[in-house]
Amino acid sequence: MFNIILFGPPGAGKGTQAKKLSSEFGFVHISSGVILRETIKKGNKAGKIAKKFIDQGYLVPDEIVMKELLRESLKYENKAKGIIFDGFPRNLHQAEIFNKMLKKKGESISLVISLEVDHQELFKRIIGRASDSGRTDDNEQVIKRRFVTYELETFPLKEYYRNKSRLVEVSGMAPTDEVYSIISDEVKKRLKTLKVDKR
Ligand code: AP5
Ligand code: MG
Repeated sequence: MFNIILFGPPGAGKGTQAKKLSSEFGFVHISSGVILRETIKKGNKAGKIAKKFIDQGYLVPDEIVMKELLRESLKYENKAKGIIFDGFPRNLHQAEIFNKMLKKKGESISLVISLEVDHQELFKRIIGRASDSGRTDDNEQVIKRRFVTYELETFPLKEYYRNKSRLVEVSGMAPTDEVYSIISDEVKKRLKTLKVDKR
């Protein structure tokens, strides 16, 4: 199975690019943010806890994230040809658990795409969509906290993956289709080398 991680700060375009990859390559798109927002809608205990953290721009506790994500990914076990993980893993602990889960299945991370976008542009994008995103965390105060959380907890994962997996940095500053064309080429290249490796 082709496992790809889309990595990057809030507003970098992870969701946008994941959707495009999913439609071209037929990969399943798993977004931890989307899953957690669905959990909130259910109104159960996990959802209530998740809401508290999301609405303040902090990471939702790992136990909740892992449980919800596992439930979702089990649906596709042995069915998908690839999975795009958007917004997951988000800290070192999640990355370690994820590695163990993949190892158990005899799988690994095929590619990590890190979307690079400057701070001013990120802010502009999220504020730009705030009026119609319906997201309670798309407001100035919470965005600032999401950025700090990213710097403190998620950004260090970049070095982790640079040392452990195939990490490719892609500028996410260009228009969506241009960014996509680079990502799509990277995926094709990786798919090709993996086929060669298997011979
Ligand atoms: P999550 O839902 O993952 O949000 P995020 O990481 O803050 O990122 P966004 O979804 O806001 O941005 P994106 O990178 O997907 O960009 P998008 O394509 O939308 O997480 C939300 C919260 O859930 C977290 O803060 C945390 O509390 C919790 N959470 C989630 N996962 C967790 C985990 N694993 N562990 C613990 N907690 C977790 O694009 C943004 C905008 O820019 C859009 O309007 C888009 O149209 C536009 N745009 C995209 N690309 C371009 C481009 N190239 N040029 C111009 N505009 C563009
Ligand atoms: Mg997103």
